[in-house]
Amino acid sequence: MSNILAKYNIPVPRYTSYPPANYFSETFTAADYEKALTASNHNKPSHISFYIHIPFCRHLCNYCGCNSFAMTGKEKIKQYLNAVNNEISYVTSFLDPERKITQIHYGGGTPTIIPAQELAKINSRLLSSFQQIEKPEIAIECHPAYLSISDWRELLNAGFNRFSIGVQDFNEKVLKAVNRRPPNMPLQTILSLLKKQNAGVNLDLLYGLPLQTVNSFAQTVRQAADLNPDRIVTFSYAHVPWINNRQLMLEKIGLPAEKDKTDMYRITGEILSAAGYKPVGLDHFVKTTDELYQALKNKQLHRNFQGYCTRRTTGQVYAFGVSAISQLSCAYAQNSKDINQYILKTNTGAATVKGYSLSKEEQVTRTVIETLMCNLCIDFDELSNATGLPAETIKTTVNFNTERFAEFANDEIITLTENSIEITPKGRLFVRNVAATFDKLQTTTNRKFSKPV
Ligand SMILES: C[S@@+](CC[C@H](N)C(=O)[O-])C[C@H]1O[C@@H](n2cnc3c(N)ncnc32)[C@H](O)[C@@H]1O
Ligand code: SF4
Repeated sequence: MSNILAKYNIPVPRYTSYPPANYFSETFTAADYEKALTASNHNKPSHISFYIHIPFCRHLCNYCGCNSFAMTGKEKIKQYLNAVNNEISYVTSFLDPERKITQIHYGGGTPTIIPAQELAKINSRLLSSFQQIEKPEIAIECHPAYLSISDWRELLNAGFNRFSIGVQDFNEKVLKAVNRRPPNMPLQTILSLLKKQNAGVNLDLLYGLPLQTVNSFAQTVRQAADLNPDRIVTFSYAHVPWINNRQLMLEKIGLPAEKDKTDMYRITGEILSAAGYKPVGLDHFVKTTDELYQALKNKQLHRNFQGYCTRRTTGQVYAFGVSAISQLSCAYAQNSKDINQYILKTNTGAATVKGYSLSKEEQVTRTVIETLMCNLCIDFDELSNATGLPAETIKTTVNFNTERFAEFANDEIITLTENSIEITPKGRLFVRNVAATFDKLQTTTNRKFSKPV
């Protein structure tokens, strides 16, 4: 394994989107976004997914790779909410009200900084402006250090039915080293309350942090499994100090060796498999009753910036808030990363500052890469059935032939036929490297990416 690690642990895109966000360009303007919004009413998938980014946090964790800012005064938060509401009015004015909402997702930062009554107003505003599927997913990312039992109840009353709880690690020494507060009450209390209301629960864990050892992280994973959530998400710590220079403090304390990180990944799989969880994609582990597992079995798993989704919950994503990225069939559009500029721009229209219009060829490449990243296999005939394009056209577009992928097969990263690729258990960590081989943009890039491990 150590040879394989040395060979493949090189910077490659994470492919949470294709093309990756660092290809977005300022030549994409608000006018391009308006055109893409109008076109999105006629494109597939026809359903609507809303993302709302709330960037504020009470304390900033030093490992954080998300777009987060230390909480400023209540006045700034009020201005920000007002701007989000302006942006909702502007964007939704382009959308066909007959379309159905499948998902509303609040991410951050720490979205629960906003009072639950305000979140409830946004939810009912969006839900009443469009049709909706049966039981759309209304999800929120939560930091368990700052919510009381009555706060959790209010979030349930605001309509939320899926909660991602950021645990990261149960070891308080690890949390202290990265400047993160521990939960303010036993997680069992929170999970019992949420489960009684039939809400879905994800626990987020993060491996690769200072002071973590293989044994200490295994203990955290066991504790998470004992709580019996529907989903456990184990993120590999992405070290990107050129984006967040607070991460340099983690380097000073000392990051685990690559070999230890791979062992943390391996032992996580073993513990969660013994506890009845199934791996979905690279980092999700879910119960067999979970709709993500059913989607994986039927090769119907999709992904957007917010995480995995099924055919039921997949939609084009319309994103609101600072730095938020809309993911439409024919384009990506990203808002300003500067809070003041975002607020100013939403007074008069779009907050878009950059984006990317995908050519037809790039849309095909996106489908191939997304299929591989989600389902860990590609069958070009099945893809042909799903897209209506001849298998040969898809193969030519992504330059697929067995010679180009033979080295991965020799290294037992994939099994390969003339018509298909399947990632082996040993190759799971390196699915990004295989995906990059389909990516023509990757052959000429000098952009920076994190490593798989
Ligand atoms: C917006 S945060 C979740 C909500 C809340 N702010 C919290 O921290 O609990 C989203 C998740 O991103 C993950 N994350 C943050 N920084 C990361 C990094 N550098 N690499 C990988 N995952 C990271 C963490 O696991 C975190 O739970
Ligand atoms: S991990 Fe969560 S709480 Fe910590 S800084 Fe990032 S967004 Fe904020």
